Amino acid sequence: MAIPMMSGIDLKGKRVLIREDFNVPLKNGEVTSDLRIRAALPTIKQALKAGGKVMLMSHLGRPSEGHHDETFSLAPVAKVLSKLLKMDVPLVQHWIDGVNMGDAQVVLLENVRFHHGETDNNVELSKKMAHICDVYVMDAFATSHRMEASTYGVIKYAKQACAGPLLMSELEALAKIMEKPAHPVVAVVGGSKVSTKLALLDSLVKKVDALIIGGGIANTFLAAEGYTVGKSLHEPDLIDEAERLTVEAKNRGAEIPIPIDVVVADRFAEDVESSVRLVSQIDDNEKIFDVGPDTIKNFVSIIKKAKTILWNGPIGAFEVEEFSKGTQAIAKAIADSKAFKVAGGGDTLAAIEKYQISSKIDYISTGGGAFLTVLEGKKLPVIAALEERVAKNEKVA
Ligand code: 3PG
Repeated sequence: MAIPMMSGIDLKGKRVLIREDFNVPLKNGEVTSDLRIRAALPTIKQALKAGGKVMLMSHLGRPSEGHHDETFSLAPVAKVLSKLLKMDVPLVQHWIDGVNMGDAQVVLLENVRFHHGETDNNVELSKKMAHICDVYVMDAFATSHRMEASTYGVIKYAKQACAGPLLMSELEALAKIMEKPAHPVVAVVGGSKVSTKLALLDSLVKKVDALIIGGGIANTFLAAEGYTVGKSLHEPDLIDEAERLTVEAKNRGAEIPIPIDVVVADRFAEDVESSVRLVSQIDDNEKIFDVGPDTIKNFVSIIKKAKTILWNGPIGAFEVEEFSKGTQAIAKAIADSKAFKVAGGGDTLAAIEKYQISSKIDYISTGGGAFLTVLEGKKLPVIAALEERVAKNEKVA
Protein backbone atom coordinates (compact mmCIF):
# COMPACT_ATOMS: atom_id res chain seq x y z
CA MET A 1 0.00 0.00 0.00
CA ALA A 2 1.32 3.46 -0.92
CA ILE A 3 2.18 5.61 2.06
CA PRO A 4 2.55 9.42 2.13
CA MET A 5 6.04 10.71 1.37
CA MET A 6 7.59 13.88 2.71
CA SER A 7 8.19 15.08 -0.86
CA GLY A 8 4.43 15.01 -1.51
CA ILE A 9 3.50 17.27 1.40
CA ASP A 10 3.53 21.07 1.39
CA LEU A 11 5.86 22.01 4.26
CA LYS A 12 5.88 25.78 3.73
CA GLY A 13 5.62 27.58 7.07
CA LYS A 14 4.76 24.32 8.83
CA ARG A 15 6.27 22.90 12.00
CA VAL A 16 7.95 19.73 10.73
CA LEU A 17 8.94 17.12 13.31
CA ILE A 18 11.45 14.64 11.88
CA ARG A 19 12.24 11.45 13.82
CA GLU A 20 15.91 10.76 13.19
CA ASP A 21 18.20 8.05 14.48
CA PHE A 22 21.09 9.95 16.04
CA ASN A 23 21.96 7.04 18.29
CA VAL A 24 25.66 7.43 17.48
CA PRO A 25 28.79 6.16 19.23
CA LEU A 26 30.44 8.66 21.61
CA LYS A 27 33.84 8.81 23.25
CA ASN A 28 34.74 11.49 25.79
CA GLY A 29 31.68 13.49 24.76
CA GLU A 30 32.55 13.46 21.04
CA VAL A 31 30.78 11.63 18.20
CA THR A 32 33.12 8.92 16.87
CA SER A 33 31.08 7.93 13.79
CA ASP A 34 28.84 10.50 12.12
CA LEU A 35 27.43 8.07 9.52
CA ARG A 36 23.88 8.33 10.88
CA ILE A 37 24.06 12.14 11.11
CA ARG A 38 25.36 12.49 7.53
CA ALA A 39 22.69 10.09 6.29
CA ALA A 40 20.01 12.40 7.74
CA LEU A 41 21.31 15.57 6.06
CA PRO A 42 19.52 15.29 2.67
CA THR A 43 16.14 14.98 4.42
CA ILE A 44 16.83 17.93 6.71
CA LYS A 45 17.99 20.08 3.78
CA GLN A 46 14.94 19.08 1.74
CA ALA A 47 12.57 20.04 4.60
CA LEU A 48 14.36 23.39 5.03
CA LYS A 49 14.27 24.09 1.30
CA ALA A 50 10.54 23.37 1.27
CA GLY A 51 10.07 26.12 3.89
CA GLY A 52 9.54 23.97 6.99
CA LYS A 53 10.40 24.89 10.56
CA VAL A 54 12.43 21.81 11.33
CA MET A 55 12.49 20.00 14.67
CA LEU A 56 14.73 16.94 14.88
CA MET A 57 13.91 14.26 17.39
CA SER A 58 16.02 11.22 18.37
CA HIS A 59 17.00 8.87 21.14
CA LEU A 60 20.57 8.27 22.25
CA GLY A 61 21.46 5.14 24.19
CA ARG A 62 19.17 3.58 26.75
CA PRO A 63 18.84 6.03 29.66
CA SER A 64 16.40 5.27 32.45
CA GLU A 65 13.28 7.21 31.50
CA GLY A 66 11.76 10.10 33.39
CA HIS A 67 14.77 12.31 33.98
CA HIS A 68 17.65 14.10 32.29
CA ASP A 69 20.97 12.24 32.29
CA GLU A 70 23.87 14.24 30.83
CA THR A 71 25.66 11.04 29.72
CA PHE A 72 22.89 10.53 27.17
CA SER A 73 22.49 14.15 26.10
CA LEU A 74 22.31 14.86 22.36
CA ALA A 75 24.59 17.91 22.84
CA PRO A 76 27.51 16.30 20.93
CA VAL A 77 25.12 15.58 18.04
CA ALA A 78 23.91 19.21 17.98
CA LYS A 79 27.55 20.26 17.63
CA VAL A 80 28.16 17.95 14.66
CA LEU A 81 24.86 18.94 13.03
CA SER A 82 25.70 22.65 13.32
CA LYS A 83 29.02 21.99 11.62
CA LEU A 84 27.64 19.81 8.85
CA LEU A 85 24.64 22.05 8.11
CA LYS A 86 26.78 25.19 8.45
CA MET A 87 24.14 26.78 10.68
CA ASP A 88 23.40 26.94 14.38
CA VAL A 89 21.34 23.93 15.49
CA PRO A 90 20.38 24.61 19.11
CA LEU A 91 19.58 21.76 21.47
CA VAL A 92 16.17 22.30 23.08
CA GLN A 93 15.84 20.83 26.58
CA HIS A 94 12.14 21.40 27.30
CA TRP A 95 10.16 20.81 24.14
CA ILE A 96 7.25 18.55 24.96
CA ASP A 97 4.78 21.47 25.21
CA GLY A 98 6.00 23.05 21.96
CA VAL A 99 8.97 24.97 20.59
CA ASN A 100 9.01 28.61 19.50
CA MET A 101 10.55 28.59 16.07
CA GLY A 102 11.44 31.05 13.37
CA ASP A 103 11.35 30.35 9.63
CA ALA A 104 14.26 28.41 8.11
CA GLN A 105 15.33 27.22 11.54
CA VAL A 106 16.48 23.76 12.63
CA VAL A 107 16.46 22.68 16.26
CA LEU A 108 17.42 19.40 17.90
CA LEU A 109 15.12 18.18 20.66
CA GLU A 110 16.86 16.61 23.66
CA ASN A 111 16.83 12.79 23.92
CA VAL A 112 13.25 11.45 23.57
CA ARG A 113 14.09 8.66 25.99
CA PHE A 114 14.33 11.21 28.84
CA HIS A 115 10.51 11.21 28.68
CA HIS A 116 8.61 8.70 30.69
CA GLY A 117 6.59 6.39 28.41
CA GLU A 118 8.72 6.74 25.27
CA THR A 119 9.80 3.10 24.95
CA ASP A 120 6.38 1.85 26.15
CA ASN A 121 4.68 3.78 23.35
CA ASN A 122 2.60 5.74 25.88
CA VAL A 123 -0.54 7.24 24.29
CA GLU A 124 -0.43 10.55 26.18
CA LEU A 125 3.23 11.09 25.27
CA SER A 126 2.53 10.17 21.62
CA LYS A 127 -0.32 12.74 21.53
CA LYS A 128 1.90 15.44 23.04
CA MET A 129 4.57 14.80 20.41
CA ALA A 130 1.92 14.95 17.71
CA HIS A 131 0.64 18.29 18.98
CA ILE A 132 3.96 20.13 18.69
CA CYS A 133 4.00 19.70 14.89
CA ASP A 134 1.93 20.11 11.75
CA VAL A 135 3.74 17.35 9.89
CA TYR A 136 5.47 14.33 11.40
CA VAL A 137 8.17 12.68 9.27
CA MET A 138 9.40 9.20 10.12
CA ASP A 139 12.93 9.03 8.74
CA ALA A 140 14.75 7.01 11.41
CA PHE A 141 15.19 3.74 9.52
CA ALA A 142 17.55 2.45 12.21
CA THR A 143 14.79 2.75 14.85
CA SER A 144 11.92 1.74 12.59
CA HIS A 145 11.69 -1.73 14.17
CA ARG A 146 10.77 -0.13 17.52
CA MET A 147 7.16 0.57 18.53
CA GLU A 148 7.88 3.63 20.67
CA ALA A 149 5.99 6.89 21.18
CA SER A 150 8.29 8.92 18.92
CA THR A 151 8.57 6.30 16.17
CA TYR A 152 5.17 4.64 16.16
CA GLY A 153 2.57 6.09 18.54
CA VAL A 154 2.87 9.64 17.20
CA ILE A 155 1.97 8.49 13.66
CA LYS A 156 -1.64 7.91 14.70
CA TYR A 157 -2.14 11.37 16.24
CA ALA A 158 -0.11 13.81 14.10
CA LYS A 159 -2.11 16.14 11.81
CA GLN A 160 -0.12 14.74 8.90
CA ALA A 161 2.34 11.84 8.99
CA CYS A 162 4.65 10.60 6.28
CA ALA A 163 7.80 8.63 5.51
CA GLY A 164 11.07 10.47 4.97
CA PRO A 165 13.52 9.96 2.07
CA LEU A 166 16.15 8.09 4.12
CA LEU A 167 13.63 5.55 5.40
CA MET A 168 12.42 4.99 1.84
CA SER A 169 15.87 4.70 0.26
CA GLU A 170 16.90 2.12 2.87
CA LEU A 171 13.78 0.08 2.11
CA GLU A 172 14.36 0.36 -1.65
CA ALA A 173 17.98 -0.86 -1.36
CA LEU A 174 16.88 -3.82 0.73
CA ALA A 175 13.99 -4.60 -1.63
CA LYS A 176 16.51 -4.77 -4.47
CA ILE A 177 18.34 -7.50 -2.54
CA MET A 178 15.25 -9.34 -1.32
CA GLU A 179 12.78 -9.17 -4.19
CA LYS A 180 14.39 -9.58 -7.61
CA PRO A 181 18.15 -9.74 -7.09
CA ALA A 182 20.55 -10.56 -9.92
CA HIS A 183 21.94 -14.08 -9.39
CA PRO A 184 24.24 -15.47 -8.11
CA VAL A 185 23.28 -13.91 -4.77
CA VAL A 186 25.89 -14.29 -2.03
CA ALA A 187 25.22 -13.37 1.59
CA VAL A 188 28.05 -13.07 4.08
CA VAL A 189 26.76 -13.42 7.63
CA GLY A 190 29.13 -13.27 10.55
CA GLY A 191 28.55 -12.86 14.23
CA SER A 192 28.88 -14.78 17.42
CA LYS A 193 25.60 -16.63 17.68
CA VAL A 194 23.28 -18.60 15.42
CA SER A 195 20.48 -17.82 17.91
CA THR A 196 20.56 -14.05 17.29
CA LYS A 197 20.74 -14.52 13.52
CA LEU A 198 18.55 -17.59 13.13
CA ALA A 199 15.60 -15.67 11.64
CA LEU A 200 17.99 -13.95 9.21
CA LEU A 201 19.67 -17.22 8.18
CA ASP A 202 16.24 -18.80 7.77
CA SER A 203 15.10 -16.00 5.48
CA LEU A 204 18.35 -15.87 3.45
CA VAL A 205 18.67 -19.60 2.90
CA LYS A 206 15.48 -19.41 0.81
CA LYS A 207 16.92 -16.71 -1.48
CA VAL A 208 20.68 -16.90 -1.85
CA ASP A 209 22.93 -19.10 -3.96
CA ALA A 210 25.65 -19.11 -1.30
CA LEU A 211 25.47 -18.24 2.37
CA ILE A 212 28.98 -17.63 3.67
CA ILE A 213 29.01 -17.84 7.44
CA GLY A 214 31.66 -16.71 9.89
CA GLY A 215 32.43 -16.19 13.57
CA GLY A 216 30.70 -18.26 16.23
CA ILE A 217 27.92 -19.02 13.73
CA ALA A 218 30.36 -20.99 11.56
CA ASN A 219 31.60 -22.88 14.65
CA THR A 220 28.08 -24.19 15.30
CA PHE A 221 27.87 -25.34 11.66
CA LEU A 222 31.28 -27.05 12.03
CA ALA A 223 30.01 -28.84 15.14
CA ALA A 224 26.92 -29.88 13.15
CA GLU A 225 29.25 -31.52 10.60
CA GLY A 226 30.80 -33.53 13.44
CA TYR A 227 34.01 -31.52 13.92
CA THR A 228 35.44 -30.86 17.36
CA VAL A 229 35.56 -27.10 17.87
CA GLY A 230 37.50 -27.21 21.14
CA LYS A 231 36.64 -24.33 23.43
CA SER A 232 35.36 -22.16 20.58
CA LEU A 233 32.20 -20.15 20.98
CA HIS A 234 29.37 -22.28 19.61
CA GLU A 235 25.81 -23.27 20.47
CA PRO A 236 25.27 -27.02 20.90
CA ASP A 237 21.50 -26.39 21.25
CA LEU A 238 21.40 -25.03 17.72
CA ILE A 239 23.22 -27.86 15.96
CA ASP A 240 19.87 -29.25 14.75
CA GLU A 241 18.99 -25.85 13.27
CA ALA A 242 22.38 -25.68 11.53
CA GLU A 243 21.75 -29.14 10.04
CA ARG A 244 18.27 -28.13 8.92
CA LEU A 245 19.58 -24.95 7.22
CA THR A 246 22.33 -26.93 5.47
CA VAL A 247 19.79 -29.43 4.11
CA GLU A 248 17.42 -26.63 3.06
CA ALA A 249 20.23 -24.92 1.13
CA LYS A 250 21.27 -28.19 -0.56
CA ASN A 251 17.68 -28.97 -1.58
CA ARG A 252 17.54 -25.63 -3.41
CA GLY A 253 20.91 -26.17 -5.07
CA ALA A 254 22.49 -23.50 -2.86
CA GLU A 255 25.48 -23.87 -0.54
CA ILE A 256 26.52 -22.93 2.97
CA PRO A 257 30.30 -23.31 2.69
CA ILE A 258 31.85 -24.07 6.06
CA PRO A 259 35.51 -23.32 6.81
CA ILE A 260 38.15 -25.82 5.68
CA ASP A 261 40.88 -24.35 7.89
CA VAL A 262 40.83 -21.88 10.78
CA VAL A 263 43.07 -19.69 12.93
CA VAL A 264 43.15 -20.88 16.53
CA ALA A 265 44.64 -19.60 19.78
CA ASP A 266 44.10 -20.26 23.46
CA ARG A 267 42.70 -16.78 24.16
CA PHE A 268 41.53 -13.53 22.59
CA ALA A 269 44.38 -11.05 23.02
CA GLU A 270 46.79 -8.90 20.99
CA ASP A 271 49.94 -10.68 22.21
CA VAL A 272 48.68 -14.20 21.59
CA GLU A 273 50.36 -16.84 19.44
CA SER A 274 48.00 -18.27 16.84
CA SER A 275 48.15 -21.30 14.53
CA VAL A 276 46.38 -22.34 11.37
CA ARG A 277 44.63 -25.72 11.65
CA LEU A 278 42.55 -27.90 9.38
CA VAL A 279 39.08 -28.05 10.91
CA SER A 280 39.65 -31.78 11.53
CA GLN A 281 42.65 -31.00 13.76
CA ILE A 282 41.41 -28.57 16.40
CA ASP A 283 42.61 -29.40 19.92
CA ASP A 284 40.22 -29.60 22.84
CA ASN A 285 41.65 -26.47 24.53
CA GLU A 286 41.81 -24.29 21.40
CA LYS A 287 39.46 -21.54 20.29
CA ILE A 288 38.71 -20.52 16.69
CA PHE A 289 39.10 -16.78 16.04
CA ASP A 290 39.35 -16.54 12.26
CA VAL A 291 39.23 -18.52 9.03
CA GLY A 292 42.41 -19.88 7.47
CA PRO A 293 44.02 -19.21 4.04
CA ASP A 294 42.32 -22.06 2.13
CA THR A 295 38.92 -21.00 3.45
CA ILE A 296 39.65 -17.42 2.43
CA LYS A 297 40.49 -18.62 -1.11
CA ASN A 298 37.20 -20.52 -1.31
CA PHE A 299 35.11 -17.63 0.07
CA VAL A 300 36.80 -15.12 -2.26
CA SER A 301 36.15 -17.31 -5.31
CA ILE A 302 32.45 -17.54 -4.37
CA ILE A 303 32.25 -13.75 -3.86
CA LYS A 304 33.94 -13.17 -7.26
CA LYS A 305 31.06 -14.93 -9.05
CA ALA A 306 28.33 -12.95 -7.27
CA LYS A 307 26.07 -10.42 -8.97
CA THR A 308 24.41 -9.41 -5.68
CA ILE A 309 26.14 -9.35 -2.30
CA LEU A 310 24.73 -8.78 1.14
CA TRP A 311 27.16 -8.37 4.04
CA ASN A 312 26.23 -8.49 7.70
CA GLY A 313 28.85 -9.37 10.28
CA PRO A 314 32.62 -9.95 10.32
CA ILE A 315 34.12 -13.36 9.53
CA GLY A 316 36.58 -13.41 12.43
CA ALA A 317 37.56 -11.46 15.55
CA PHE A 318 39.02 -8.71 13.34
CA GLU A 319 39.56 -6.21 16.19
CA VAL A 320 42.79 -8.13 16.93
CA GLU A 321 45.32 -7.98 14.07
CA GLU A 322 46.24 -11.66 14.41
CA PHE A 323 42.60 -12.63 13.70
CA SER A 324 41.77 -10.02 11.08
CA LYS A 325 42.90 -11.67 7.82
CA GLY A 326 39.56 -13.36 7.07
CA THR A 327 37.46 -10.22 7.48
CA GLN A 328 40.05 -8.12 5.63
CA ALA A 329 40.11 -10.54 2.67
CA ILE A 330 36.31 -10.68 2.53
CA ALA A 331 36.13 -6.87 2.70
CA LYS A 332 38.61 -6.60 -0.17
CA ALA A 333 36.80 -9.23 -2.27
CA ILE A 334 33.49 -7.41 -1.73
CA ALA A 335 35.09 -4.05 -2.54
CA ASP A 336 36.61 -5.46 -5.78
CA SER A 337 33.39 -7.13 -6.90
CA LYS A 338 31.20 -5.52 -9.58
CA ALA A 339 28.05 -6.94 -7.95
CA PHE A 340 25.32 -4.79 -6.38
CA LYS A 341 26.48 -4.62 -2.75
CA VAL A 342 24.59 -3.81 0.42
CA ALA A 343 26.07 -3.89 3.91
CA GLY A 344 24.72 -3.16 7.37
CA GLY A 345 25.16 -3.77 11.10
CA GLY A 346 27.44 -2.11 13.66
CA ASP A 347 30.42 -4.51 13.41
CA THR A 348 30.18 -4.58 9.63
CA LEU A 349 30.36 -0.78 9.50
CA ALA A 350 33.40 -0.89 11.79
CA ALA A 351 35.09 -3.32 9.38
CA ILE A 352 34.12 -1.17 6.38
CA GLU A 353 35.63 1.84 8.12
CA LYS A 354 38.77 -0.04 9.18
CA TYR A 355 39.47 -1.27 5.64
CA GLN A 356 38.31 2.01 4.05
CA ILE A 357 35.99 0.46 1.49
CA SER A 358 32.83 2.51 2.07
CA SER A 359 33.02 4.11 -1.39
CA LYS A 360 32.99 0.61 -2.94
CA ILE A 361 29.70 -0.48 -1.34
CA ASP A 362 26.52 0.50 -3.22
CA TYR A 363 24.41 0.90 -0.12
CA ILE A 364 25.52 1.05 3.51
CA SER A 365 22.51 0.81 5.80
CA THR A 366 22.28 2.96 8.92
CA GLY A 367 20.32 0.16 10.59
CA GLY A 368 21.36 -2.66 12.89
CA GLY A 369 18.24 -4.28 14.32
CA ALA A 370 16.02 -2.64 11.69
CA PHE A 371 18.28 -3.92 8.88
CA LEU A 372 17.94 -7.46 10.24
CA THR A 373 14.16 -7.09 10.71
CA VAL A 374 13.69 -6.24 7.03
CA LEU A 375 16.03 -9.00 5.86
CA GLU A 376 14.16 -11.45 8.06
CA GLY A 377 11.17 -10.67 5.84
CA LYS A 378 9.19 -8.91 8.58
CA LYS A 379 7.15 -5.76 8.14
CA LEU A 380 8.40 -2.69 9.99
CA PRO A 381 5.79 -1.47 12.52
CA VAL A 382 6.21 2.17 11.44
CA ILE A 383 5.29 1.24 7.87
CA ALA A 384 2.25 -0.66 9.16
CA ALA A 385 1.23 2.45 11.18
CA LEU A 386 1.57 4.73 8.13
CA GLU A 387 -0.43 2.27 6.02
CA GLU A 388 -3.11 2.12 8.67
CA ARG A 389 -3.53 5.89 8.46
CA VAL A 390 -3.90 5.64 4.70
CA ALA A 391 -6.45 2.84 5.10
CA LYS A 392 -8.43 5.02 7.51
CA ASN A 393 -8.36 7.78 4.92
CA GLU A 394 -6.03 9.97 6.95
CA LYS A 395 -8.67 10.60 9.63
CA VAL A 396 -6.78 11.81 12.68
CA ALA A 397 -7.88 11.16 16.24
C1 3PG B 1 20.18 1.03 16.96
O1 3PG B 1 21.26 1.54 17.26
O2 3PG B 1 20.08 -0.14 16.52
C2 3PG B 1 18.95 1.87 17.04
O3 3PG B 1 19.25 3.19 17.32
C3 3PG B 1 17.96 1.32 18.03
O4 3PG B 1 18.45 1.48 19.34
P1 3PG B 1 17.79 0.63 20.53
O5 3PG B 1 18.21 -0.79 20.29
O6 3PG B 1 18.34 1.21 21.79
O7 3PG B 1 16.31 0.79 20.42
